[in-house]
Amino acid sequence: MKEEERLKTGFVNEPVDKNVDLKVAINQLKRQKNAIILAHYYQAGEIQDIADCVGDSLALAQWATRTTADIVVLCGVHFMGETAKVLCPDKKVLVPDLNAGCSLADSCPADRFAQFVREHPGYTVISYVNTTAAVKAVTDVVVTSTNARQIVESFPEDENIIFGPDRNLGNYINSVTNRNMLLWDGACHVHEQFSVEKIVELKAKHPDALVLAHPECKSAVLKLADYIGSTAALLKFATKNDAVTFIVATESGILHEMQKQAPGKTFIPAPPDDSTCACNECSFMRLNTLEKLYNCLKYELPEIKVDPEIAKEAVKPIKRMLDISEKLGH
Ligand code: 13P
Ligand code: SF4
Repeated sequence: MKEEERLKTGFVNEPVDKNVDLKVAINQLKRQKNAIILAHYYQAGEIQDIADCVGDSLALAQWATRTTADIVVLCGVHFMGETAKVLCPDKKVLVPDLNAGCSLADSCPADRFAQFVREHPGYTVISYVNTTAAVKAVTDVVVTSTNARQIVESFPEDENIIFGPDRNLGNYINSVTNRNMLLWDGACHVHEQFSVEKIVELKAKHPDALVLAHPECKSAVLKLADYIGSTAALLKFATKNDAVTFIVATESGILHEMQKQAPGKTFIPAPPDDSTCACNECSFMRLNTLEKLYNCLKYELPEIKVDPEIAKEAVKPIKRMLDISEKLGH
């Protein structure tokens, strides 16, 4: 069967024999092909459990640069696969489902962003990693939620900065660093919908609980937070802090690792405005399944491809971030 035919859907849509033990088969394929599985904390628990490394978006990029594997299977969303590919152009980078996009990255089309940059000559362009490679190609330095504040602070206070695409993260950094960065008006559909009222109600029911929030949440939610940080930072805080109950305002996949690392503690996912949906799950992240992961390793499809001209430019701000982050001890 031709590649295109297997990939009409964006993933290898082939039924897996019921007798195949997916976990055993995935591990076998991984060894045979010298592949590594990297997973983001927002993946389904069973994918996190089979991965070689589970981490935040910064860690995924760092592992991609350090691995000696021939194949990197990125269980996350498309921009994470692109970042790995740009950093390791000679490796095969696979994602189980190419449809795993990101509403935040989608809120920043490369042509419009490039136009915005052209309209502001003399501005330093700082882009969140949740962007396409084409946006990174017109960026001076990339950041993740782990290092965004410190990277912004590494520029002089009077530096003119464009920050994109997340307005919530940008507003948060402006407020804690006393800057006035020019913000792109983008957002993530998962982090925008946490309900302030329902978090307040939960706090009333669990007065000793601490609220943990990802900086992609809107400012009204961040105001309620006892601690704000990236997924990796929230995890570290939750395991080290003496509190035993936490209300967690980020994608609910992180609760899997929190519960694993701190089994005696209680983690309550912050509820969305609409209680009839599971909208604190990222629908894109959850497109990856064990079956798709198995087929992806078996057929080495779908593969992430990045235009070499775009990759040549996009790699510079990503490497700049990795260099700064290393110096910061991340
Ligand atoms: P992290 O940088 O914490 O991994 O966040 C990635 C992300 O997609 C948040 O929605
Ligand atoms: Fe993108 Fe939001 Fe999903 Fe993160 S949670 S990958 S920002 S859509």
